[in-house]
Amino acid sequence: MYAEFSDNLVTGNEMIDSQHKELIEKINGLERSCETNAELSVAVKMLNYLADYTDFHFSEEEKLQEEIEYPGMEEHKKQHQEFKQAIEELHEMLEEQEGPTKEFSEQLNKRVTEWLYRHIQGFDRSVAEYRNMRSNSELI
Ligand SMILES: [Fe+2]
Repeated sequence: MYAEFSDNLVTGNEMIDSQHKELIEKINGLERSCETNAELSVAVKMLNYLADYTDFHFSEEEKLQEEIEYPGMEEHKKQHQEFKQAIEELHEMLEEQEGPTKEFSEQLNKRVTEWLYRHIQGFDRSVAEYRNMRSNSELI
């Protein structure tokens, strides 16, 4: 199942939102390799793109949280670690199963896509709101 960036994923922070769109593109690149029964090497390449972009995106988000002195930063970082761990486990699964199986696609959907939706709607939205609140109070 392909992931989709819909309105309920908007946090209101332009940088975060545009990076989430890119992240979803990367997830779909990997999903495409499942749907088309691609070779292991192709799927691994897609998974690596996703892993690299995830690292970039999480570090950008964490930098923003430091800048605004976001109080929930530690808990948020733990969530990011959990996601990275899921990606590593997917990598192992891909190698073990010698390619993107149906089971792999299900795990991708559950541990990456659905996780990301929940994370964005809770954790990331809360960072964006905190940032808005701070910049509004600085204007007063
Ligand atoms: Fe996040």
